[in-house]
Amino acid sequence: MEKAAFPVPPGGIIGIFGGGQLGRMAAMAAARLGYRCHIFTPDTDSPAAQVAMTTTVASYDDIDALRAFSAKVDVATFEFENIPIESLRVVAEQIPVRPSWKILKVAQDRVREKTFFNTIGLRTAPWRRVVDQETLAQAVAEVGRPAILKTARFGYDGKGQIRIDASTPLEDVWHRINTEVGVVEAVVDFTRELSVIVARGVDGAWAAFEPAENRHKNSVLQMSQVPARIHSRMAVSAVEAGRHAAEVLDVVGILAVEIFVTREGQLLMNEMAPRPHNSGHWTLDACVTDQFEQFIRAVCGLPLGSPARYCDAEMLNLLGEEVVRWRDILKNPFARLHLYGKDDARPGRKMGHVTHLKPRTGKLSRDIEQC
Ligand SMILES: Nc1ncnc2c1ncn2[C@@H]1O[C@H](COP(=O)(O)OP(=O)(O)O)[C@@H](O)[C@H]1O
Ligand SMILES: [Mg+2]
Repeated sequence: MEKAAFPVPPGGIIGIFGGGQLGRMAAMAAARLGYRCHIFTPDTDSPAAQVAMTTTVASYDDIDALRAFSAKVDVATFEFENIPIESLRVVAEQIPVRPSWKILKVAQDRVREKTFFNTIGLRTAPWRRVVDQETLAQAVAEVGRPAILKTARFGYDGKGQIRIDASTPLEDVWHRINTEVGVVEAVVDFTRELSVIVARGVDGAWAAFEPAENRHKNSVLQMSQVPARIHSRMAVSAVEAGRHAAEVLDVVGILAVEIFVTREGQLLMNEMAPRPHNSGHWTLDACVTDQFEQFIRAVCGLPLGSPARYCDAEMLNLLGEEVVRWRDILKNPFARLHLYGKDDARPGRKMGHVTHLKPRTGKLSRDIEQC
């Protein structure tokens, strides 16, 4: 039985599964509101542990550690998507886990996720579930080339994906992907990629940040900018898609949805994450209430804040060795630098980000008017 612990007032202890930068920034937002955070991660010296009250370093399926953790925190959440569902269920027997493991179960699996979008009337790129060479060949014949084969689970930053171009031999592709279940989807010739981040409270109240326009390089987020160069009608539709998904899932916390805009101006859902999202880091510096504070407020049962934006912004990820740019970044007084406390600048690793704050444009750019 869950403790009837809502709201968890300031002073309470929030348990967070995952020790990465999302947990770090969530713990910092929590501290500002007077909470303490207890991180659960298998990693030693994690970015979140550096700023949290305490950390349990244990495997995500260590039942004894999970039970001890549950006994010490008032509410639990997660910043990382690959927490075993069974572990969250164990914790949920003792304390509230927000959002529910049921949502994570959908978001962890591309087959469930895409089925969910389609079931609630949101479009995706044409896609098929594949389990072997034969279903792969059938799927590619149906969705056409170019296509992408993705593992159903555990993919991130473009990992677990293989592009299938006009001449790519399929035998090789199935052999290389090394998964039991995958999805094949058509490559979308998108004009823009957007994301919408919706916060939803325990009472069903919601607040969405305006859509960000995202640019990826080698499938890793490179830049997010607001305002997105889209017409306001499209921005409303994108927010509506995110809100709709969050409502149907009954999210308490944050739901981020990634969206492709096609040449015809259609919105196609790509994927979703029931946690703060890299494409929402600009909210830390440009909004009244940022995504991490909304997350903490929602998880603890507090009212949500305003997601209104003060100024235009552009967020750039600092990957690997790019982090050495911190000195130059700090020379710009309108650049807001965020470093995650990671020592090892491995190629492609998210070491930090910088948000450039810009005066408000006040009017639509030519580019938008042409949309
Ligand atoms: N069907 C697609 N058509 C075009 N680009 C795609 C497609 N799927 C993925 N991409 C590109 O690869 C990026 C990463 O893919 P995504 O499915 O979001 O996986 P993840 O972020 O989990 O690695 C997307 O943001 C997009 O830029
Ligand atoms: Mg993605």
